[in-house]
Amino acid sequence: MLRGSKVGLRARHVEDIPILRTELYDDVVNGSRAEAAPWRPVSPDSKDLRLAVDDTPPDRVPFSVVELEGGTLVGTANLWGIDNHSRSAHIGLGLLPAARGKGYGTDVVATLCHYGFVVRGLHRLQIETLADNDAMLRAAERNGFVREGVLRSSAWVLGEFLDEVLLGLLAEDWKPDTKG
Ligand SMILES: CC(C)(COP(=O)(O)OP(=O)(O)OC[C@H]1O[C@@H](n2cnc3c(N)ncnc32)[C@H](O)[C@@H]1OP(=O)(O)O)[C@@H](O)C(=O)NCCC(=O)NCCS
Repeated sequence: MLRGSKVGLRARHVEDIPILRTELYDDVVNGSRAEAAPWRPVSPDSKDLRLAVDDTPPDRVPFSVVELEGGTLVGTANLWGIDNHSRSAHIGLGLLPAARGKGYGTDVVATLCHYGFVVRGLHRLQIETLADNDAMLRAAERNGFVREGVLRSSAWVLGEFLDEVLLGLLAEDWKPDTKG
């Protein structure tokens, strides 16, 4: 398990799936805002990649996020779009509603940075998020990500085009112990 200061990132367990499906992926608004695809219902036996238990395909590594104290499941996190030639990857995360606003998101980003830069030897990590997602923007910036641009009207979300912000962090700029 990868350990942050508040949460740990461990392998996805089969028993995590119903909780993630019910609390994250059944939520039309959250699903529409967090995914670059239209919301659709996910059946219990779905092979949906977001809920895959193993780490195939190789360009995507899914984690379940747990509280360090007690091990309660609080969300999902993944490194995706891993490009071993340019040594870059994207970060994605989603916390169960009750787990938001407690600093866990900031800690997940820090832990994914450790995984990307130290464990995988990557050079660049990237995050795309809706321009109004203040919590995600802040969690990224707290870890040293810088805003590199606005992707105008790039996301179709429940009947309107929204802007996304692209943030990047290079290995040489990453300060693992400083979160602000
Ligand atoms: C986005 C998300 C991962 C952030 O994680 P979090 O644990 O809620 O965020 P944190 O508690 O670490 O807070 C990070 C910062 O944002 C601020 N913040 C938290 N919730 C906020 C909110 N609703 N509005 C504005 N700011 C907020 C915090 O005060 C903190 O700022 P600070 O560092 O200046 O103190 C989480 O809210 C979430 O899962 N949301 C739904 C799914 C989603 O949007 N995923 C990202 C898709 S790209």
